Amino acid sequence: DALKSLKVNKQRLMEDLHHTCQWGIGKRWGQAETETGMTRLALSDTDKQARDWFVKTTGDLGCKVTVDEMGNIFAVRPGLKNDKPPTFVGSHLDTQPTGGRYDGILGVHAGIEMLKVLNENWIETEYPVGVVNWTNEEGARFPLSMASSGVWAGSIPLSTAHNLREVHPGTATMAEELSRIGYLGSVPASHEAMPMAAHFELHIEQGPLLEITNKKVGIVTGVQAYKWLTINVKGRDTHTGTTDLVGRADALLAASKMILHSHRLATANSALSSTGILNLKPGSTNTVPGDVSFSLDIRAPADETVARVLALVKEDFPKIAAGENLGGLNDGGTPSLPCSIDIKEDFDSPATTFHPSCIDAVARAAHRVLGPDSRSLMMEMTSGAGHDSVYTSKRCPTSMIFVPCREGVSHNPEEFCNEEDCATGAEVLLHSVLRYDRM
Ligand code: GLV
Ligand code: MN
Ligand code: MN
Ligand code: MN
Repeated sequence: DALKSLKVNKQRLMEDLHHTCQWGIGKRWGQAETETGMTRLALSDTDKQARDWFVKTTGDLGCKVTVDEMGNIFAVRPGLKNDKPPTFVGSHLDTQPTGGRYDGILGVHAGIEMLKVLNENWIETEYPVGVVNWTNEEGARFPLSMASSGVWAGSIPLSTAHNLREVHPGTATMAEELSRIGYLGSVPASHEAMPMAAHFELHIEQGPLLEITNKKVGIVTGVQAYKWLTINVKGRDTHTGTTDLVGRADALLAASKMILHSHRLATANSALSSTGILNLKPGSTNTVPGDVSFSLDIRAPADETVARVLALVKEDFPKIAAGENLGGLNDGGTPSLPCSIDIKEDFDSPATTFHPSCIDAVARAAHRVLGPDSRSLMMEMTSGAGHDSVYTSKRCPTSMIFVPCREGVSHNPEEFCNEEDCATGAEVLLHSVLRYDRM
């Protein structure tokens, strides 16, 4: 029937995406303005501008738009029957400090393109469909990833999210910034106030597997586990020229050994460990730093692996702080004064498995869009990165669609997904929703 041959408008999809990327810093490292690069931190002035466009555009397309108390924006297009909750398409408009214009942004625009295709073809779905922009997915400005889908799911307390303080410069809270830009809604951020029949998310892979294997679509079956920690090491500020090695408690030296050690622990356990935030005080060339804090992000496909690395971190870091020379960390054996350490567990995202009916809807949609060669052009995969779909999957059937990105690079202004792949992904998304609507 006519539904089966529905296509997205590639040019319109890409024009819309680049249009909203005027709000943010787009041009970097000599790239053309319209190709790559985006800095649009959550709840910044530019995020407000992109949100305003989202609200106006979806409203003009006939949607009922709701903003909840986490600033999540839900745009709902009514169905023939409205006694069941909408099937949602969702992702995020915020980016990393040095991000691209596909991570998150593509998923939201694909949802808007879906609305446009339905409207111009006079299609009435059985049940309502919606598009959602989730707040602060990145966890880059406010250091909790997927913060607002987490509140919606009931996994993160509202107060925890509202009280999150920005990483730099560390003055504003999330609640203050929501209010400042006019997106502190009154509707509760909860799956009860805004129920979903299902949630589908289109995203760039952010890794190299699709490109390397020449696939066009990834059928995402789940997301790996991760855990975030903040580690504070306290030593003693002293003069660099007059304090001999025996007399110093160098917090940065201790932290450096910990970071290196966590890398070794992760490698030995087939996990990943990364430090992306590092602060030291007082920050002076001729003072031994006495106060260092750093982030640790541990990831692995299985919860047990993350737990094992975490246990080793908790066992070994205090020894390093105390000055023990763990294997491979011999700094010459110079004794120095011990540092103290505090390990804070900030956030936990257990391994996620998506819902078979949504995975099936995506696979069938991909077959339809990719045509006779579809089997050689798609593959099942798990996501290395977190997504709002992790939290929606706790409350409604959920799955994701991946498309390749150049060299697997993401969280980088060079991040790029070609127009053909963007459109293919958006079309698979459209057909996943249409299929689910009739299931
Ligand atoms: C969230 O997007 C994450 O993977 O850190
Ligand atoms: Mn993302
Ligand atoms: Mn991201
Ligand atoms: Mn993400």
